[in-house]
Amino acid sequence: MANDNELQKNKLKVLFVCLGNICRSPAAQGVMQALIDSRGLSDKFYLDSAGTYGGHAGDLPDSRMRQHARRRGYDLTHRSRQIKGSDFEDFDVIVAMDEGNRRNLSRMAATVDEERKIVMMGRYITKYPHYDYVPDPYYEGAEGFELVLDLLEDSCQVLLDSLMEQMK
Ligand code: 4NP
Repeated sequence: MANDNELQKNKLKVLFVCLGNICRSPAAQGVMQALIDSRGLSDKFYLDSAGTYGGHAGDLPDSRMRQHARRRGYDLTHRSRQIKGSDFEDFDVIVAMDEGNRRNLSRMAATVDEERKIVMMGRYITKYPHYDYVPDPYYEGAEGFELVLDLLEDSCQVLLDSLMEQMK
């Protein structure tokens, strides 16, 4: 993993996963990192994101996602990468954006303990009762990207509270 060194040793490692790793999961990473920084918790967490599909590997997030995120103050600079088997060992929590992502991740998990690391982002959505997942915005218009950010700003707060509780 990137920065796999002493610095990461005592951090909780969280990996956000979607399909292409150019829209939802890099946005989740950016929103969560901003929240962590604003709460002074950056020494406690290491974040990354990945896609189950590797066709965009090396790319910056989709320009529409970057633009919508930028307007809310998030600078998305992650480079897309495909998830790999060792991520299930390296990360403590693996957050799937939708049910298709969760199924793909489940198939990849090598042990029951690895499978237990997978959680659904939708579980932490509280302000949008019609959503129990983060919908793919790739073929949508501006509203799709705004919706992703609304859902992520809500769910990241709840996820962070939950992780902090678990770390006690
Ligand atoms: P993401 O969005 O999974 O949120 O990154 C997508 C990005 C690319 C594709 C689909 C969804 N694609 O088909 O290339």
